[in-house]
Amino acid sequence: MEKTFLMVKPDGVKRGLIGEIISRFENKGYTLNRLEMVTPSVEVAEAHYAEHKEKPFFGELVEFLTSGPVVAMEWEGEDIVAVSRLMIGKTKPLDAQPGTIRGDFASTMSQNVIHGSDSVDSAERELALWFAGVASHVS
Ligand code: PPS
Repeated sequence: MEKTFLMVKPDGVKRGLIGEIISRFENKGYTLNRLEMVTPSVEVAEAHYAEHKEKPFFGELVEFLTSGPVVAMEWEGEDIVAVSRLMIGKTKPLDAQPGTIRGDFASTMSQNVIHGSDSVDSAERELALWFAGVASHVS
């Protein structure tokens, strides 16, 4: 069965949206396999967003992700990588449809409540990063 990495970002945790977000995926029929609430280190945040290293907003991304606790999760289900991205909605607020998580709860490109892996390969990489000895990587 396919697995993906989903993460409630610091703004989602601060706004009290953990339960709402977990419920959406549980209600869809997916299985929550693993969950860790951690404040990521700069090392983990930079590795997580490595593909965006050259983007002008990379520093802002890392600063935001390390600003407080996140909820890192492994979820499992049929076609979960693609379907969870649909449920999350687009990054650009103008494109995020109502009914999606970002469409309902996010209004900026950066503080947008949740991250979801964008491919099966990314999911494998991100799950390995966050769950392989996660305790030794957090501040
Ligand atoms: S891209 O350029 O299409 O690959 O970017 P995208 O997948 O839409 O976004 C990648 C992550 O970067 C965040 N993001 C931003 N942060 C700050 N400022 C700006 N302008 C910005 N644009 C995108 C966005 O929230 C994505 O985070 P994740 O956690 O991967 O969803």
